[in-house]
Amino acid sequence: MDLNIRKALPTDLTSIVDYYGTKGDTPFDPFANEDLLRQVVDLNDIIIAEVKGSFAGFVYFFVDNHPWFEPEVDKFGHIMGVHVKPQYQGKGIATRMLDYAMEDLRKRNVRVAYIDTGANNVEALRLYERMGVQRIWTDHTFQEDNRLRISRFGLGVKFYPTTTTKS
Ligand SMILES: CC(C)(COP(=O)(O)OP(=O)(O)OC[C@H]1O[C@@H](n2cnc3c(N)ncnc32)[C@H](O)[C@@H]1OP(=O)(O)O)[C@@H](O)C(=O)NCCC(=O)NCCS
Repeated sequence: MDLNIRKALPTDLTSIVDYYGTKGDTPFDPFANEDLLRQVVDLNDIIIAEVKGSFAGFVYFFVDNHPWFEPEVDKFGHIMGVHVKPQYQGKGIATRMLDYAMEDLRKRNVRVAYIDTGANNVEALRLYERMGVQRIWTDHTFQEDNRLRISRFGLGVKFYPTTTTKS
């Protein structure tokens, strides 16, 4: 597979929003709005995967201090989104992007990273667990209207920036 993993360029933002769609998780989700994305997200915090020169997926992460759920931790990496286009899934692309993110965090002197996903997202959980993450918190929020109850489970996982890809 002709796979290239690299940092984002300004021209990648269109591919990200085209793939992600304009709905977003919230009305303020920057990945659903190219103008917002351009304003609020640092290109250095986005990793792009391309196969034969075509956009195949992205990872977004940033570095911050003192997570609310483990305030004793100083500098940490927060991996906010891991996305691989369906036709490219199951080929190790997310693993390679996460390894790239881990290497980047190590270079920034960051030793702890967190990632969260839905507790029912089996593909993501398998991927993260295979990469050696440790489960640290589970959050349950419920929204109700008269007919429908939606439950959403957030899962926090922590891992130490080491790479898993075998060369
Ligand atoms: C979760 C997600 C990112 C995984 O991406 P992916 O690129 O398919 O992940 P990987 O290929 O690295 O790993 C998945 C499987 O492929 C396998 N794999 C790894 N290298 C491979 C290769 N060279 N060829 C074939 N399969 C391979 C892995 O072993 C793994 O299989 P397993 O979990 O059964 O052991 C993807 O399903 C996705 O984008 N989902 C929608 C968005 C989402 O929910 N994101 C997570 C929350 S933010």
